[in-house]
Amino acid sequence: MKYKKYFRKTSLKQKGDGDFFLQEIKDKRPKFFLEIGVFHGVTARNVCELLHTIHGEDFKYIGLDLFEINDENKSEIIPSNIFSNPIKQFFFKYIKRQNPYTIEAVKDLLGKFKSNIHLIKGNSNEILKKIDMSKIDYVFLDGGHDYNTVRNDLYNCMEVINKNGTILCDDYNLSYAPGVKKAIDEFVKEKNLKCKLLRSSRFAKIEK
Ligand SMILES: C[S@@+](CC[C@H](N)C(=O)[O-])C[C@H]1O[C@@H](n2cnc3c(N)ncnc32)[C@H](O)[C@@H]1O
Repeated sequence: MKYKKYFRKTSLKQKGDGDFFLQEIKDKRPKFFLEIGVFHGVTARNVCELLHTIHGEDFKYIGLDLFEINDENKSEIIPSNIFSNPIKQFFFKYIKRQNPYTIEAVKDLLGKFKSNIHLIKGNSNEILKKIDMSKIDYVFLDGGHDYNTVRNDLYNCMEVINKNGTILCDDYNLSYAPGVKKAIDEFVKEKNLKCKLLRSSRFAKIEK
């Protein structure tokens, strides 16, 4: 399956990264997927399309995002919501009349999977503690890039690893967000886990 961009922005924009990511998911065949950091929902839609081809209706996708920049979360790195392509800017402003970085817009993009998805607006530092992790078998960690946030997210997802699931972290080697690497390295060491670096260390795959 090819990774599609659905006329929106995504962090998996570099050639081949999206297809590689989907192949990783396909190999694991998860049934209960959690994405931390949804942004415009492009990866969400690709994951739902893939899980639907594998499992039919029998899968769940949970997506969590701040879906807003405010005083409390301004230390997080949030990609720009402005399109460099003026046609896309026009499309969302005057045709869709939608801000793609909102829970409503992502719900719209995932409309055909509405019985499989659960989207949550909030900060992962608070929300993850309330999510039942017992059924989740795959996490794509691509939310806050602050050291403490990544550390909290990883610890809050530990149950997934204990149940033989996978946490795939994005941006392991991002030069302007060194806290991601630091938090992952410490977590893997403290919990004695396997960590495989993929795609020139862009992704870190953590398993038992
Ligand atoms: C790099 S983008 C995610 C891209 C998306 N996974 C994709 O593949 O297109 C990071 C997202 O994480 C969200 N985010 C940042 N800090 C967060 C936090 N503490 N809790 C929840 N979401 C957060 C931002 O709002 C942003 O949409």
